[in-house]
Amino acid sequence: MPVIVLVGAQWGDEGKGKATDLLGDRLDYVVKFNGGNNAGHTVVIKGEKYALHLLPSGILTPGVVPVIGNGVVIDLAVLFQEIDGLESRGIDTSRLRISANAHVIPSYNRSMDKVAERYLGARRIGTTGRGIGPTYADKMNRVGIRVQDLFDESILRQKVEAALSFKNQVLSKIYNRQAVKPDDVVGELLSYVERLRPYVGDTALELSEALDAGKVVLCEAGQATLLDVDHGTYPFVTSSNATAGGACTGSGIPPTRIDRVVAVLKAFTSRVGEGPFPTELHDKFGDHLREVGHEYGTTTGRPRRIGWLDLVMARYAQRINGVTDFVLTKLDNYDDLDEIPVCVAYEVNGVRHDEMPISQTDFHHAIPIFETLPGWKEDISGARTFEDLPKDAQHFVEFVEARIRARISVVGVGPARDQVIERHSVLSGA
Ligand code: IMP
Repeated sequence: MPVIVLVGAQWGDEGKGKATDLLGDRLDYVVKFNGGNNAGHTVVIKGEKYALHLLPSGILTPGVVPVIGNGVVIDLAVLFQEIDGLESRGIDTSRLRISANAHVIPSYNRSMDKVAERYLGARRIGTTGRGIGPTYADKMNRVGIRVQDLFDESILRQKVEAALSFKNQVLSKIYNRQAVKPDDVVGELLSYVERLRPYVGDTALELSEALDAGKVVLCEAGQATLLDVDHGTYPFVTSSNATAGGACTGSGIPPTRIDRVVAVLKAFTSRVGEGPFPTELHDKFGDHLREVGHEYGTTTGRPRRIGWLDLVMARYAQRINGVTDFVLTKLDNYDDLDEIPVCVAYEVNGVRHDEMPISQTDFHHAIPIFETLPGWKEDISGARTFEDLPKDAQHFVEFVEARIRARISVVGVGPARDQVIERHSVLSGA
């Protein structure tokens, strides 16, 4: 039975939580396969707003099993804060499954993330400061701490001591910070063990068995295509694979079981943190879209950088992820505009590029080539079928669809769960 992978087509904050929610009652499992509490989904259900950073948004749907896969890095304090927060609002979280192979974010990696950014100064990445990068670096350096290590105190102590023997040198000698005591770290991690135990298992096996039993699984990416450590705008990226390939390595689901890849594309572009952004706006249109779209970071509260829709990027996202269906979100944010520029190609040193330039230097110098489409100047938030949309809004959707090599199956016209137009089923391909 189907595995659907859900990714962001831009730099994150495209509205993936809404897409997950739309699929909610058709899903049996929702798997988070990369990233950690650097993510932020805002889901609105019956007027109630839920901001989730670490837990898969499927946690809000009764009957769905949310899974934190092996590719995720977990801040245990945040995990239990979110669980407690949901439980206090009457949401049952007991279905949650956590991979024994997922890595935990020890407190020293949060410190490392923050001091490293400060040290970089003007060359900083603009990270969320949650310890994501240092924890993935530890994983690759083979000095990471995994969930399963918490269940063997002597192994845990050895691993924490090994990691700190190097990190304490860096913290004290380079960053001029106090060394961290292994006992404090071990003590903090062990304080979560008993609460953690019931959630932990071999999630790759559980997912394989679920698929054999005909269950429907959604693998939900944190961050997005252009933030992927391999395929994004490196080094201004996150430290994990946020593209569709990451769904396999980060969950243990093999590529041969994946049926559909759904990408969420916001009708304009946003980015948090540093890095190149060809269609970025520094004018009243950027301010307007930021305000009507409430474009402030869910995790850090930072105002997001805003730009026009970039179809070079969307085509790239289609190609890298093998997107079968796009979900176009926030179309209603354009309701007040007279006209809407859309980037269809770049010009770099006088040469037209229809595909992403190969080098970051060229991407930094890319000048967008725009085509300007007429606005519709009408409130579209009540539209529920494609025909309900004004002709110019229909034209916008068709114009985009013709240039991104996959169909636009869903159009979002407002923040609430039911404010969508479903043109095709993303589950069946029909
Ligand atoms: P990190 O993931 O905290 O290491 O930050 C690396 C980059 O990814 C920074 O530019 C962050 O702003 C960005 N980033 C991380 N998570 C998200 C997200 O969920 N949405 C948008 N940007 C993100």
